Amino acid sequence: MVKPSVLVTRRWPAAVEAQLAENYDTVLNTGDKPMSPADIRDALKRYDAVLPTVTDTLNAEALDVDGAQTKIIANYGVGYSHICEPSARELGMTVTNTPDVLSECTADIAMTLLLMVARRAGEGERELRSGNWTGWRPTHLVGTKVSGKTLGIIGFGRIGQQMARRAHHGFGMKIVVQNRSRVEPELLQQCNATQVDSVDDLLPQCDFVSLHCPGGAANRNLINARRLNLMKPDAFLINTARGEVIDEWALIQALMFEMIGGAALDVFDGEPRISPDLLQCDNLVMLPHLGSATREAREAMGFRVLDNLGDFFAGRAPRDRVI
Ligand code: DGY
Repeated sequence: MVKPSVLVTRRWPAAVEAQLAENYDTVLNTGDKPMSPADIRDALKRYDAVLPTVTDTLNAEALDVDGAQTKIIANYGVGYSHICEPSARELGMTVTNTPDVLSECTADIAMTLLLMVARRAGEGERELRSGNWTGWRPTHLVGTKVSGKTLGIIGFGRIGQQMARRAHHGFGMKIVVQNRSRVEPELLQQCNATQVDSVDDLLPQCDFVSLHCPGGAANRNLINARRLNLMKPDAFLINTARGEVIDEWALIQALMFEMIGGAALDVFDGEPRISPDLLQCDNLVMLPHLGSATREAREAMGFRVLDNLGDFFAGRAPRDRVI
């Protein structure tokens, strides 16, 4: 039997690549070079399945293909706002993602960022590495206590829920939640959380705000200058969702003029480009999109793609179909 042809757009964990090569007529991107929209367009004409990841651009231009060969885009990653939904639908393509398996690790990074910014860990490490540490003193790099404070979670999907568990059960934090739809009372009860109606209701109540909503046009600049103004002047903003959810210019102003306590970001609008102004902000911690970057999560994401492909080519509905 002829194996379906599959193109993988970036390097994946070795065990997953090996399994892909066994199951399919697989072309790997051994050079790990990002593909352009033109490369993606070309791939959609030649392969039965294209396996992109969250940093590939599958916008309307890349999906503007006559006679596509590809029937499934099996994305490596939970977010899929980089895939133009109307174009994928028009082409009749199935799109899948990789939820669940990265939720704990992404929440771990959100918690890491929360602790780092509250306790000024980034500043401390920079000081020490630059040889400027002059020793312990009562007023040195004094931060903010985390335990018992109020955490606002915007977007109460799987990752938001994991964040709530860590913050509530690990640090005794009070949890306030904003979510597009009503959250089941049992889910809220697990962390003694309260759901509020809107982002505007949530922001003024919180010492920390962590973003866990999807990216894309619907949530672009959800956190803008007006909303940053609604935060307490000593509150911290954490983003492990998508860069575009925050109006970066407004955040830079808020950090530079100390309108909020600080921020911690794992994702950036237009990443990997980082605004030079962000680099000037001492009250900011930044990581290079490490949310799911554990051996365990990255392998599990790959095997989840394999499950989705297996179902699709066996004529079953893939469990993680999003389009
Ligand atoms: C995702 O999966 O959407 C993350 O941003 C990368 O793990």
